[in-house]
Amino acid sequence: MVNRHQDHPMNNISDKNSDVICHCSGTTEGKIKELLASGGHDLDSLSRKTGVCSGCGACEDLIKQLLADYR
Ligand code: FES
Repeated sequence: MVNRHQDHPMNNISDKNSDVICHCSGTTEGKIKELLASGGHDLDSLSRKTGVCSGCGACEDLIKQLLADYR
């Protein structure tokens, strides 16, 4: 199976997929990237699926940046 995001710039930024980017929900960067790679997500759908941005909101800018970078 071909990963259409294989050459996406976000894949070259870091190897931080195991880093927790939302401490309220325990969601990792890798989980968000996995969902973004499947397509069709926005902030609300990511929040519903993972709980990001549903607690203190401190992760919102990071999630928005990942969304922007994946477009
Ligand atoms: S760190 Fe994501 S909602 Fe608090």
